Amino acid sequence: MTASSPPPSLIATLPGGHYTDERVFALEQERIFESMWFCAVRAADLGRPGAFRTVQVGRESVLVTRARDGSVRAFLNVCRHRGARLRTEESGEVRRTFRCPYHAWTYDLEGRLVAAPNLAAMPDLDRAAYGLVGVHVREWLGYVWLCLADDPPPFEADVVGAVVTRLGEEGLIENYGVGDLEVGRRIVYDVKANWKLLVENFMECYHCATIHPELVGVLPEFAGGYAAQSFVGHGARFGAEVRGFTVDGSQGVDRIPGVSEDQDRRYYAITIRPQVFVNLVPDHVIIHRMFPLSAGRTVVECDWLFHRDVVERGADLGPSVELFHRVNAQDFAACERCQPAMASRAYARGGVLVPSEHHIRAFHDWVLARLGPASA
Ligand code: FES
Ligand SMILES: [Fe+2]
Repeated sequence: MTASSPPPSLIATLPGGHYTDERVFALEQERIFESMWFCAVRAADLGRPGAFRTVQVGRESVLVTRARDGSVRAFLNVCRHRGARLRTEESGEVRRTFRCPYHAWTYDLEGRLVAAPNLAAMPDLDRAAYGLVGVHVREWLGYVWLCLADDPPPFEADVVGAVVTRLGEEGLIENYGVGDLEVGRRIVYDVKANWKLLVENFMECYHCATIHPELVGVLPEFAGGYAAQSFVGHGARFGAEVRGFTVDGSQGVDRIPGVSEDQDRRYYAITIRPQVFVNLVPDHVIIHRMFPLSAGRTVVECDWLFHRDVVERGADLGPSVELFHRVNAQDFAACERCQPAMASRAYARGGVLVPSEHHIRAFHDWVLARLGPASA
């Protein structure tokens, strides 16, 4: 047996270069992040007309805002005159317009060009043609999803379909009323690792017994190394002594009203390709949005969402938040431990997947198919 033909229980991963090569990353930006639906902003963060956020989607900066009619709009963050970035802050609020800081071309919240110095001297300038370049927008689960493609893929199949495939039915996630929950806590992680390492890590639980003592304490079946994601519709059951999905197994907060008896005392994890992880437990929902910034760097915004009443009455969210914050820190440290080694000669042909990780190969095949023959 040679190193290039592993025994049947082991399957090859992607080669190390796929995690370090900026050319591969550029292809991923073009063919994955700029071509698919990208979960960008919590809609409630755009509280009123003129509130905005800027987000990196693939190679583009996108300006996401709320128009006067209350709808969410998104535009490439590029002035149509000579290309200045309209806004460089991560978030803020304007009253009525975005005014370019360079020569003061001014756009309204619908992206129309409404003013510019000496505009009267240019009667042939078609204002409609020089509005900001729009980006497709959808709202689901209380988030703003963007698509930079001219012709976006079907949202229902690609995004909602990912959840249905994992859970077996759409109603299951609807029970949590995710769109009406409120952000109780948000933590942003700046991870020095390739985004695919984060996806692979989220998909498997072979590492759970080694690095997640608190999580395994709450979900004892995870000690066996099989992720809940391996089985359609499966939610990992809380341990018999566990009272809640908290760092010490203590009682959490009030159960989300729509959650069924079947779903109670269970944890469901869902990956929505390419950059979203959803975690459902009876009293809260945890959503990760990844923003891949380079081959070796991924920013993750993680929201802990609770029922509005729980947040408003100031319930103690600490033990609930602390559990998955520790899981995140443990997972991201593991990914950062792998990232430098992706460039090693020892990993030039990649590593291997054990049987409880074999489903990750489908993710690798999906990435390769998106990238096309040039990447193989
Ligand atoms: S670049 Fe924006 S007004 Fe000139
Ligand atoms: Fe993990």
